[in-house]
Order: sequence, then structure tokens, then C-alpha cells
Amino acid sequence: MHGTILKSVLLSAVVAGSGTVLAEVDEAARTEAARNASMELIQKLGGTLQQEMKTAGPAAAITVCRDVAPQIAGELSRRNGWRVTRVSDRVRNPMLGMADDWEAGVLEEFHHQVEAGRKPAELEFTEVVTEADGQRYFRYMKAIGTKPVCLTCHGEREQMPADVRQAIESAYPHDQAVGYSAGQVRGAVSIKQPLPAEDS
Ligand code: HEC
Repeated sequence: MHGTILKSVLLSAVVAGSGTVLAEVDEAARTEAARNASMELIQKLGGTLQQEMKTAGPAAAITVCRDVAPQIAGELSRRNGWRVTRVSDRVRNPMLGMADDWEAGVLEEFHHQVEAGRKPAELEFTEVVTEADGQRYFRYMKAIGTKPVCLTCHGEREQMPADVRQAIESAYPHDQAVGYSAGQVRGAVSIKQPLPAEDS
């Protein structure tokens, strides 16, 4: 459904859902602000994870990916007046992380891009979407790559440390967020900003 649009605008333009295009400046500014917020989330989370894994060990670090990510996303949401979330097409926590249809389409395209040789860190996507009630949103996604440090908890089950595996299996019996390898797209930061009504 999204295939053609996605391919043509990946990393570039904002395409409006209903034939309008955001003013050039607004588009660029929104994209940059969304990119900065996403990078802040990815970098803060990665840094805290690395540190906690080293000092307290992987079993203790489970709370970092669980609690720190939504905390940072929450801060970014409040500070900017957007909805900032972390989503995936293979979730551990279906409550917080499950992608909606638009997000699932973008993630699918991100996977294709990585198969074609792109790095997750290069992948972002923007679009103006009009929902059924007529409200327009600026939507942005930035891919979250799988780093070696992520594999302790998102790699092959058999290779997870026993205490980590046990803790994760008992807390998340429906876990789908395993079996990744480094360099794959683990998910994305997804940002949704309500746009003012169009004057037409
Ligand atoms: C110490 C274990 C651990 C490590 C290491 C870890 N995670 Fe997680 N991750 C989790 C847990 C537990 C959850 C579920 C959090 C929740 O309950 O919301 C999760 C959830 C996620 C989610 C949200 C989507 C989902 O699956 O529910 C993303 C995205 C994610 N992790 C990415 C990463 C990335 C990227 C790295 C490496 C930089 C990483 N994780 C490292 C334990 C870990």
C-alpha cells in the first residue's frame, strides 16, 4: 500500500495525504526537530544501557529498556507537544510498542532498505497524514538499529544469559522481540504532531 510513496520519499520530501504539501520551511523545521528528538531518545537509551550492563549486569539492565525509554519518550512528548513513542513490528511489550498500520508500512520499507544495503541509522521517513476525522498530522519515523549490546536481550533465545532469559520469559510470555542480529532494524522512534487546520 505504502510501497511506491515510501520508496520515492524515503529520506526526502514530505508528501501530504490529501494533495497538499507543507510549506517548505515548516516541513524542514519539523523534520529536523523530530530527528533531533529521536536521536536524543536513541542515544540516551543506548548510553544508559551500555553503562548499566557494565556496572550492574544484563539482568539489572532489563529495567533500562523497560523504564528509561518510555520515560525519555514521555519527556520529549511533554516538552514538544507531540506524541513520541518507540514502536516495533515484533514487540516484547504489545501495550507500548505495537506499530499502527502507517508505522508498520514504514517499518516494512525500512527492512527492505536494510536488505538493500542501507544502514538503519540512515533511515527516516516523514509524511503528512489526514485521518478519518479530518485532522492532519505530521508523522515521522527514525529506525532504531540492533547493536551488539542489544543481542543480550533481543538476540537468539539460546544465547541469552540464563538469568536474563528466565526474567524475560516470565515477564513477557508472548515475547516476539527475540532472534534479531546486529544491523537489523529493531524498531523505530515514531513521532506524531497534530497540524493546525488547513485554510481552504
Ligand atoms: C537487558 C535487556 C535488554 C537490552 C540489553 C535491550 N533491551 Fe530492548 N527491551 C527489553 C525489554 C525487557 C523490553 C520490553 C520493555 C517494556 O516492557 O516496555 C524491551 C523493549 C524494546 C523496544 C520496544 C518494542 C518492544 O519490543 O516492546 C525496543 C524498540 C527495544 N527494546 C530496542 C532495544 C535496542 C535498540 C537495544 C540495544 C541498544 C535494546 N533494546 C537492548 C530489554 C532489553
